[in-house]
Amino acid sequence: MPVPSTDPSDMDDWRDERRDEAVSAFAAQIPALYRQQITLDADVAAWADRAADAPVSLFLWGALGVGKTHSAWQATRRWIASQFAGAYRGTPVVQTWRSTALFDALRPDDAGGTPRRLMRALQTADLLYIDDIAAARVSPTGWTQERLYEIFDERYINQLPVLITSDVQPGQISPIVGERVTSRAAEIFRGGVVHLGGADRRKAVAA
Ligand SMILES: Nc1ncnc2c1ncn2[C@@H]1O[C@H](COP(=O)(O)OP(=O)(O)O)[C@@H](O)[C@H]1O
Ligand SMILES: [Mg+2]
Repeated sequence: MPVPSTDPSDMDDWRDERRDEAVSAFAAQIPALYRQQITLDADVAAWADRAADAPVSLFLWGALGVGKTHSAWQATRRWIASQFAGAYRGTPVVQTWRSTALFDALRPDDAGGTPRRLMRALQTADLLYIDDIAAARVSPTGWTQERLYEIFDERYINQLPVLITSDVQPGQISPIVGERVTSRAAEIFRGGVVHLGGADRRKAVAA
């Protein structure tokens, strides 16, 4: 990677190249169904663009098929681009998880613990996106809920953003994630709860 020169306009070009590389690398990881750029809800766009009064974290909820997951992937893409405005802080590290896969990964392994490296990665990533937080049919064990709390707690303390999609509102996630996570979530997502309305887009296509 070339070292930036001290000329301000060269510096801007260099940063824009780093941004475009980071956005392209992330875009290539977006599941094909969600790769198309869409018009985002205004509050979601404000979060992604890190507008002056936008919240740190976002809880995007609404009925099945209204476009929560698609919005979240595209908002994350925009959020990555917005990290390159202002002082250069390197390429942001983003963790994206479907909730069910995350709960699986947070179960005790053969050694009886969750891998430390995974916990650190989830606690310290520049952005943690968890899709469909309440999707699990059966709630994870108390042990897994406790690991989830440790992740949310550490991120809250350090004011690191969390992006969540859900088909229920934040107050109703406790049957899945437990009381302690729900209580932390209330603080993390204060001012950052966005409801997506509209019709089920999957049905619209089928009709
Ligand atoms: N703004 C949009 N424009 C076009 N298609 C969209 C838009 N938002 C979502 N979709 C499509 O609608 C379908 C349902 O969206 P999805 O994000 O999976 O819904 P949810 O996560 O709310 O259940 C997907 O096929 C998705 O690509
Ligand atoms: Mg979804």
